Amino acid sequence: MEVPFVDLRAEHAPLLDEMKERVGRILEQGNFILGDEVEQLEEEFAAYCDVKHAVGVDSGASALKLLLIAYGIGEGDEVIIPANTFIATAGAVTFAGATPVLVDIAPNTYNIDVNAIEAAITPRTKAIMPVHLYGTFADMTPILDLAARNNLLVIEDAAQAHGATYNGQRAGSLAQGAGFSFYPAKNLGAGGDAGMVTTNNSVVADQIRAMRHVGQRHKYIHDYAPFNHRLDTVQAAILRIKLRYLDANNAARCRHAALYNQLFAEVDGVITPEILPETEAVWHLYVIRTTARDELQAYLREFGIASGVHYPVPIHLQPYYENLGYRKGDFPITEEYADQILSLPMFPNLTEEQIHYVVDTVKAFVEQHKVEAIRI
Ligand SMILES: Cc1ncc(COP(=O)(O)O)c(C=O)c1O
Repeated sequence: MEVPFVDLRAEHAPLLDEMKERVGRILEQGNFILGDEVEQLEEEFAAYCDVKHAVGVDSGASALKLLLIAYGIGEGDEVIIPANTFIATAGAVTFAGATPVLVDIAPNTYNIDVNAIEAAITPRTKAIMPVHLYGTFADMTPILDLAARNNLLVIEDAAQAHGATYNGQRAGSLAQGAGFSFYPAKNLGAGGDAGMVTTNNSVVADQIRAMRHVGQRHKYIHDYAPFNHRLDTVQAAILRIKLRYLDANNAARCRHAALYNQLFAEVDGVITPEILPETEAVWHLYVIRTTARDELQAYLREFGIASGVHYPVPIHLQPYYENLGYRKGDFPITEEYADQILSLPMFPNLTEEQIHYVVDTVKAFVEQHKVEAIRI
């Protein structure tokens, strides 16, 4: 049996006719920049996240960067982020002109360790940017409390968490702003690169709307930094169709995760992240942890099962970020987990048969290789 890591073709098959018709209409009309499709997607996504404003941009990285800039964060400022995240979280801070300050992850949730944030706060700190990694939440109540006590902004990196909730509130609605990615493999993915800012702050939304469009509010009058980070009309049209299926697709991911969890409960040598009781996760990724990760990944490949690692090299050990001055050993949990985590196939059209096959194959590996059990 072959089990891909994601299967966009299967996800798109029932939507293809509608997508072709909508994209065809845009090609016929020849209006490719911003316009009605973008505005309507913004309204629909703002309603979905229960926020006042959504501003479409060309990627999740741009969404986060523009938010930081719109809040006045730049040179000389520090933004706290987790050490285990995709490079774009750190890049958004860097390209806003500020410095990313890293914090280790909590051993149970793999998200930013709330207890370690306070020690990272300095007089230069302006914001905390928690990442809702793998489609579950960073622990937002203590993060928002800590930020309020220290007069800091909180910007959610919600790139992996479309539709996830924390105490019933949707990702993207809990803080001063959030950045979403619509990279094709995300829970809500475009037909290319795309992203979205969400915020309840009207001034910030207006400024980002101008900044994405060469900094102009009126044609050829450039009040703000003249970036080009517009969301394509064609991508907006595709996303509007796919947004209607997001909840059903997230529900399918949750069913798959529940089955994986149930089957893995009996497999020693494999551990899965804890989901906070306040949260409903949307399972962008299904991540296990084992002491023989590389061997397991190769074994799965032999049996036709694709997998991934999110992420193999923590931010502080990336060549580009040597200048931040961190060293190996600075974030021990992140470093230990980077060698142990493995993301298994997770996508809406995954079948129960495929999940059983994946778990049986992992189980066979663990039994044959006598993998040492890890416990928190
Ligand atoms: C946690 C996280 N932050 C930011 C981004 C950046 O999004 P994009 O690839 O759309 O720029 C991603 C996307 O992969 C992500 O996973």
